[in-house]
Amino acid sequence: MRSTTGWRADAAGTLRRAALSRRELRADDVAVRVDYCGVCHSDLHALRSDASGPGRALVPGHEFTGVVTAVGPEVTAFAPGDPVAVGNIVDSCGECAMCRAGQENFCRSFPTLTYGGADRVDGTTTLGGWSREYVVRDRFAYRLPDGLDPAAAAPLLCAGVTVWEPLAALGVGPGSRVAVVGLGGLGHLAVKLAVALGARVAVVSRSADKARDARSLGADTLIVSTDPEDMAAHRDGFDTVVDTVSAPHDLAPYLSLVAMDGTLVELGHLGPVTVDMMDLLIGRKKIASAGSGGRPATAAMLDFCAEHGITADIELLPSAEVNTALERLGRNDVRYRFVLDLADLDA
Ligand SMILES: NC(=O)c1ccc[n+]([C@@H]2O[C@H](COP(=O)([O-])OP(=O)(O)OC[C@H]3O[C@@H](n4cnc5c(N)ncnc54)[C@H](OP(=O)(O)O)[C@@H]3O)[C@@H](O)[C@H]2O)c1
Ligand SMILES: [Zn+2]
Ligand SMILES: [Zn+2]
Repeated sequence: MRSTTGWRADAAGTLRRAALSRRELRADDVAVRVDYCGVCHSDLHALRSDASGPGRALVPGHEFTGVVTAVGPEVTAFAPGDPVAVGNIVDSCGECAMCRAGQENFCRSFPTLTYGGADRVDGTTTLGGWSREYVVRDRFAYRLPDGLDPAAAAPLLCAGVTVWEPLAALGVGPGSRVAVVGLGGLGHLAVKLAVALGARVAVVSRSADKARDARSLGADTLIVSTDPEDMAAHRDGFDTVVDTVSAPHDLAPYLSLVAMDGTLVELGHLGPVTVDMMDLLIGRKKIASAGSGGRPATAAMLDFCAEHGITADIELLPSAEVNTALERLGRNDVRYRFVLDLADLDA
């Protein structure tokens, strides 16, 4: 086994520095020195559910960038020294219809998640990117394009691709009217990507004080979701509404913003919802969801971001401050993504 160091949750969900093991490289494996890893709201959900669950001692982190340090004998796409990025999927069956269609994120036997998943070869629980080294199957590492700051690019691998896939699948482009609900990690990247695709973009937020940020991200309006008049003024106004709200909530107010034949894309809260069909009937509206991205979409998203100079707006913290980052994320005190610098694990 290879030895490394990372941040592992204790039974109360507090992250503690811990010695970790990584597998010896298989023929198609790549070893990555993890330099930067984002803090996603899903990490917070996982830690909270884990604390009261079976105590799997999670090592979270599923959007990271770093440098290749070693490759297995069959790896041809990467060599030591290459800058790479890894997201929240590290393996899939490779054979089902979804995998063959390049949608490994929908693999019929479920993709192997970057942490808390079961390795497809030896069954061990995967440990995430809040650690100094990760070993990943070559096909789930992506070359980080030149020109993207590696710290600010890390969140593209979860937050970025999660919003990219539905925008691309729905054909968002010039002339599209897009509203993004919740200006957080996913939301601010959805704004940047939709604007770069040519759409007119509005932000829907509880916080009127995010209006200036919304405009500097390229949106032309901020709709205050807690103001019924403001919401009513934008009724039926958007072809695509991307909902990134992290807590369970009523969809009706956001469905009211969807134009005829338009789509509400639910990305934030992934549990059961109650919908009044009349809210869909009137205007022939649709509800969709998505999560993460397949390999082709992930590579395309990275190329698009390089071409348009898109990365996340980040607050970079030494990884030793991970518990502060989580606590602040939990009270919505982030503009707009925390990224951990893992170099302090060398000390
Ligand atoms: N589908 C997927 O594959 C996928 C991938 C990654 C993350 N997620 C999920 O997506 C959600 C967002 O993740 P994130 O990392 O972007 O989180 P985040 O940075 O915390 O952003 C979430 C935003 O939602 C809004 N919000 C939070 N609580 C709310 C409430 N009670 N009512 C209304 N709005 C609320 C806030 O925006 P305002 O202050 O502007 O109102 C907040 O900035 C999380 O639930 C996460 O687990 C899903
Ligand atoms: Zn995530
Ligand atoms: Zn599959």
